[in-house]
Amino acid sequence: MDELKRGLLASDAWIAPKFFYDLLGSRLFAAITALPEYYPPRVEAEILTTYRKEIAQALGTRATLIDLGAGNCEKVAGLFPILQPAQYVAVDISVDFLRDALDHLSRQYPDTDMVGVGVDFSTQLNLPADVSDKRRTFFYLGSSIGNFPAAEAVPLLERLRRNMGAEGGLLIGMDLVKPIATLEAAYDDALGVTAAFNRNVLLHINRILVSDFKLEDWRHVALFNPQASRIEMHLEALREVRVTWPGGERLFAAQERIHTENSYKYTPESARTLLQQAGFMAKQVWTDPMGYFALIYATPSRV
Ligand code: AVI
Repeated sequence: MDELKRGLLASDAWIAPKFFYDLLGSRLFAAITALPEYYPPRVEAEILTTYRKEIAQALGTRATLIDLGAGNCEKVAGLFPILQPAQYVAVDISVDFLRDALDHLSRQYPDTDMVGVGVDFSTQLNLPADVSDKRRTFFYLGSSIGNFPAAEAVPLLERLRRNMGAEGGLLIGMDLVKPIATLEAAYDDALGVTAAFNRNVLLHINRILVSDFKLEDWRHVALFNPQASRIEMHLEALREVRVTWPGGERLFAAQERIHTENSYKYTPESARTLLQQAGFMAKQVWTDPMGYFALIYATPSRV
């Protein structure tokens, strides 16, 4: 609540992207991943399939696989036959969300021990005692690291490193810089699903703050900021708008914006640098033929 009010009252207003994900927002995000313009999930899946043997060679079999932001567990489960994990640990904000997926998986792979952990790993990562500490391999797929500026991404990655031990590793998906038109279309699709995802944050906030945002006053804006190498999403006021909530209000001028999300895009070099800053060494980098996306296997260079 306080964070929301602080953001709305800041001279450059902002809303943290975690507020996108109410029930409808999570469903809209799932729809985004099926959009023709939103290439990351497709390209990442293609890389995982094309290089599955090399990936398996790098990661080895019988490891403890820790899947961060596991969701329906589909991506990592696709590698089970080749990786034959000793244990699979699915981590997501809500453990309820994981239950069905894990039930289904444990019927398919009865020899693999499975654990579900409900934790917001962007702020802390206390893994329960039943998570094995043998050869922990973290999976951080979907380019989710891109939603954090380096000042937050580095501590998050350091936290993973400290939790994996010297024998562990990290398989991370990172979205790459590419022509601006392709990037902007991925965040402003023709069907308007990303616009709905962005504008839905206002409905979520109305419920939390008891505020009176009206959808018809706001339009979705997505633009690439080349200096910062990131896609920015904003909500732009279509006219002068007064928004009120119990005990507060904010007047927005016409065309004033609320910044709702950053999605950083890397070059293979800047990706390596980010990992180095967090004490990792990139061992292998796999990309697609267009160079749209990178899947990187990194190991600790210090413990
Ligand atoms: C979750 N995250 C990796 C997405 C991204 O691409 O930054 C969120 C998203 N926002 C709009 N479209 C997708």
